[in-house]
Amino acid sequence: MINLHKSLGLVLLALVAARLGWRLAHRPPPWPPAMPRWQRGAAEWGHRALYACMLLMPLSGYVASNFSRHGVKFFGLALAPWGPDLPAVYRFLVGVHDATAVLFAVLIAGHIAAAAWHRRHGAALASRMNWSSP
Ligand code: HEM
Ligand code: HEM
Repeated sequence: MINLHKSLGLVLLALVAARLGWRLAHRPPPWPPAMPRWQRGAAEWGHRALYACMLLMPLSGYVASNFSRHGVKFFGLALAPWGPDLPAVYRFLVGVHDATAVLFAVLIAGHIAAAAWHRRHGAALASRMNWSSP
């Protein structure tokens, strides 16, 4: 069970890294002109924080696992840990892993609340998420 979540987490890490690379190379459409400055700032920093969590969660878990004799079994393929068995380092990094999990849950709840609020208030933000380039 723990190893299935490690394997899936590593796959997600690769997908998020690919998505972030694409996102950095492609500008999204401009904000709607009616959107206040503070909301643009909150959206930008909120999205950055979501990306930070999506990277930090699997990274901290992966590095932590390498400071434990258990290492990682990637879909059954045992990857030998590249670090020594240091329980204090392992515990610290799992602490980071746990803290980002809580922060991530709070951000997702806030993000969904913000998206719902914009929908109620008629802003056509969801239509910004489409396949065609602006
Ligand atoms: C997006 C990806 C991930 C999410 C959402 C996630 C989530 C979690 C959660 C909720 C826990 C329980 C925390 C606790 O024990 O209190 C946990 C524990 C852990 N995760 Fe992850 N994880 C992810 C990726 C990874 C990856 C990629 C690895 C390693 C390659 C990893 C290694 C661990 C380890 C070693 C623990 C501690 C298990 C223990 O209690 O001994 N995680 N993870
Ligand atoms: C009910 C669920 C959700 C809804 C309705 C929703 C809605 C949206 C909308 C409308 C945007 C576009 C904002 C803009 O105009 O630029 C957006 C962006 C974003 N969402 Fe969500 N979202 C949901 C769940 C999530 C979850 C679970 C995550 C994280 C795991 C997430 C991560 C992001 C990120 C990182 C962006 C910024 C994208 C970028 O600019 O690259 N969203 N979301």
